[in-house]
Amino acid sequence: MTIKIKKCTQEDSRILQEISYETFDETFKHENSPENMIAYLKKAFNLRQLEKELSNRSSQFFFVYFKNEVAGYLKVNTNDAQSEKMGDDSFEIERIYVKSKFQKQGLGKYLLNKAMEIATECGKKKIWLGVWEKNENAISFYKKLGFVQTGAHSFYMGDEEQTDYIMIKTLN
Ligand SMILES: CC(C)(COP(=O)(O)OP(=O)(O)OC[C@H]1O[C@@H](n2cnc3c(N)ncnc32)[C@H](O)[C@@H]1OP(=O)(O)O)[C@@H](O)C(=O)NCCC(=O)NCCS
Repeated sequence: MTIKIKKCTQEDSRILQEISYETFDETFKHENSPENMIAYLKKAFNLRQLEKELSNRSSQFFFVYFKNEVAGYLKVNTNDAQSEKMGDDSFEIERIYVKSKFQKQGLGKYLLNKAMEIATECGKKKIWLGVWEKNENAISFYKKLGFVQTGAHSFYMGDEEQTDYIMIKTLN
């Protein structure tokens, strides 16, 4: 089996930091100023912040491995850890990132299926996420997997206010 998944623990904070930096940078650096990128990376992915998130019982992180290399990761939230007050029957995918060299090989879908599996096991009714309106690649991926846009919210990249679409999929 070439694809494996592992739930992250506090011991994984440095590897989580590395993959968070790498994937965020390669996804967004072409459409954002270096100043805003640096400000965001420092704030969101400093070790203290990541350790705090790893210790939150309403959040879970997973690494996906492809041929024994960390190829991507997933962060999901329930209850008060959700970025918006979507209610206790909702489940958020806050981050889903696959390194560019591993994209389009089914790993994103694998992570998304993992999120849906946990949400269903927890009895959640909806799975939702926020995606930057300019991130056409991710929006197409979510649509392909059955998500629909229901609204929008603001997201701050450094000092720049950006719009994230809110996309939802109902769980059976
Ligand atoms: C979005 C992302 C997670 C998708 O992961 P991926 O591993 O490339 O996607 P997969 O190979 O699992 O694709 C799953 C399905 O979606 C389809 N798909 C993937 N990207 C697509 C696109 N841009 N347009 C249309 N369909 C797409 C695939 O064809 C595949 O369809 P299939 O099941 O019929 O074969 C990945 O591109 C990524 O990490 N991007 C950068 C980070 C990012 O933007 N994250 C989201 C932040 S909100």
